[in-house]
Amino acid sequence: MLIGVQPSIKQLPVLLMFKPRQYYAPQWSAGLSIVPRSRLALAVTPTPLYRWRAPVIDDSVELWIKRDDLTGSTLSGNKVRKLEFLLYEALKQGSDTIITCGGLQSNHARATAVAARQLGMHSHIFLGTNDPDTDPGWNGNLMLDRLAGAAIHLIPPDIYEDRERVMNDLAADLVRAGKKPYVIPEGGSNALGSWGYIDAWREIIENDAGEIPDFDDIVFACGSGGTPAGLALAVRMSGKQTRVHAVNVSDHPDTFHMRINRILDDLGTEERSEKLVDLVDGYSGRGYALSRPEELRLLRDVAGTTGVILDPVYTIKAFYGLCEEFRKNRDRFAGRRILFLHTGGLFGVYAKLNELVETVDDYQ
Ligand SMILES: Cc1ncc(COP(=O)(O)O)c(C=O)c1O
Repeated sequence: MLIGVQPSIKQLPVLLMFKPRQYYAPQWSAGLSIVPRSRLALAVTPTPLYRWRAPVIDDSVELWIKRDDLTGSTLSGNKVRKLEFLLYEALKQGSDTIITCGGLQSNHARATAVAARQLGMHSHIFLGTNDPDTDPGWNGNLMLDRLAGAAIHLIPPDIYEDRERVMNDLAADLVRAGKKPYVIPEGGSNALGSWGYIDAWREIIENDAGEIPDFDDIVFACGSGGTPAGLALAVRMSGKQTRVHAVNVSDHPDTFHMRINRILDDLGTEERSEKLVDLVDGYSGRGYALSRPEELRLLRDVAGTTGVILDPVYTIKAFYGLCEEFRKNRDRFAGRRILFLHTGGLFGVYAKLNELVETVDDYQ
């Protein structure tokens, strides 16, 4: 089912603020086979990084937070860092239409649709849903997709499995119609997109004021693999000893190792995901984008005590996983300095409004 009203727009000149900027890759990344030289400035960076006192994790651990939920407003979260490189490439190739995919409430699809429109391009987004014949309405990320005039293709899970072919077929149709499409894979997770998090690691360790210490561990949610691929490789290349823990919110860990390895291959490195990334399994709960009451209670607790709003699909599962591991293995955690990476997803909270309200009694 195709939903959304696609306004006809003229190809607008790229706004001044989005003019391509030269990109100076860190020296330690010099050996990679793909090293971008330019990107768009879409994300508000550097994002804040500070000591964080959050529920469950007591002071036996030194917890910090990196606020990549603050990379922007409608263009916020981890995807914007990847899009800086991917959309630069799309513009360089003269594209007028971006094609991508994700779950019904995909943050990546939303950020892509909004950024594409700001850059004067059309977007087609394929969203996986169990009920592709029912209009899912205007809610959360989907509302922003619709406001930004994306062409939204609702597809059932079996077709979503075949998403790369589906996107390439549409691209071929658009070429025949005289358009210039550019396909971005799920989550922006390919070699070029992973540069968003190679560079984010540079941002974390660049420490001119000497205020940011080295971290023993970095913890975050893993959804399509681009964030762990970029971060883990950057940690290794930069010579830091930080352990990278990617909390799996959907597929089997082997699937993620395979995806991350494909990105590492494309970047021309022999490093292997199995060595670089600790894929923390057991916290996908009821499954992708489905919440358990205990996750939503923790989301409320974190928000109510720290003012940081985690999202229900990714970051709360990562933080819930961190809390559970801490509860189970206090001794192993004692004295560690841990960085929690908040990868965004705020608009997903709106899609969970009813479930969140149901947790209200516990708090009043
Ligand atoms: C808010 C949020 N956090 C984390 C992730 C996972 O990042 P990645 O897809 O790079 O593994 C995603 C997207 O999948 C996301 O939208």
